[in-house]
Amino acid sequence: MLASQRHQFDIPRDIAYLNAAAWSPLPLATQEAARAAVGRKGQPWKLGGDFADAQHERARAAAARLIGADAGDVALVSSVGYGVAIAGKVFAPAKGSRVLVLENDHTSPVLEWMTRAEAQGFTIETVAQPSNGDWTSAILAAIERSGAPPLSLASISSVHWSDGGLVDIDRVQVALKRQGAAFLIDATHGVGVLATDVKRLDPDFLIFPTYKWVLGPYGRAFVYVAKRHQGGVPLEQTAFGRRNVKAENPVYFADTRYQPNARRYDMGERDHFISMEMASIGMEMMAAWGAGAVVERLAVLTRRIADGVAGLPISVPDEHLRAPHILSLGFPDPGLCGTAARAVADFAARLQRRGRL
Ligand SMILES: Cc1ncc(COP(=O)(O)O)c(C=O)c1O
Repeated sequence: MLASQRHQFDIPRDIAYLNAAAWSPLPLATQEAARAAVGRKGQPWKLGGDFADAQHERARAAAARLIGADAGDVALVSSVGYGVAIAGKVFAPAKGSRVLVLENDHTSPVLEWMTRAEAQGFTIETVAQPSNGDWTSAILAAIERSGAPPLSLASISSVHWSDGGLVDIDRVQVALKRQGAAFLIDATHGVGVLATDVKRLDPDFLIFPTYKWVLGPYGRAFVYVAKRHQGGVPLEQTAFGRRNVKAENPVYFADTRYQPNARRYDMGERDHFISMEMASIGMEMMAAWGAGAVVERLAVLTRRIADGVAGLPISVPDEHLRAPHILSLGFPDPGLCGTAARAVADFAARLQRRGRL
């Protein structure tokens, strides 16, 4: 099994950091690179002519590698919401159709479609949070519900952020394809930890940020756009989204056709090389360990906690229904709920007093 990697982080021995689903710690190598990058911005005349391209393409390649994509199918964006906004602009759910979202899912894969539904004439169907924790069955039932309007899209997280429920995206994709529906995957809690292969799966859009499970900074995210959606109009109109609009050319607007691939969707001001390099390093580290090894190690840790609370009035989702790296503890007894909430708040306050939260 993958050995402890504590030495690669700035985490003292007496700290057990359990909150990577919120934001992960930056590896030491990333912190060093960030300091050097700040210095580089202080002396920009030292940057070579090919520096910018090398930075963009390093990050794009690292992101593509984690999801099994071609680099040209990945755009550099700032957040999951930005990626979903691209999808909202280039993919229109048919009038009269329904779009599936998950109850209590994060806002990013949900609100874009809610906002567009009325004007574009489609409806939002929310899959209720299943009491047995089985998201996959609940989603499959919603996809196949008889008598329902046609389905155009499922815009869902692959791991539910509120209960750690794991969605079997392969089975969902098969069911969606049967209905001719598109698939947008918010893979925030998937990429880096759960093996992901877009070439095999063939989703329409798959998006992930770097600040959680791929050990990167805020403000960096990546969107995979299937080739069939690479002909759309980007959210922002940039020079680099076009084939030949370059300040060094005698004619500035030499060729304003869009880039022929997902590079056209790159965000404005993508040249934030400090965070771009930080993002690359985290993704490269995750790839070097490999999803299989990371899952094996984290599953041992979450299992240890699950075993530790066995016998207490606390519910833990079945192992086959939850993500291996996130553990959500439930307090099913309504009578105990208030007490448990107070105990958790008290525990958090005590940690905070000791500078541990
Ligand atoms: C499932 C999920 N999606 C997306 C995000 C972040 O979205 P954004 O990058 O749009 O802020 C989070 C953050 O908690 C999340 O848990």
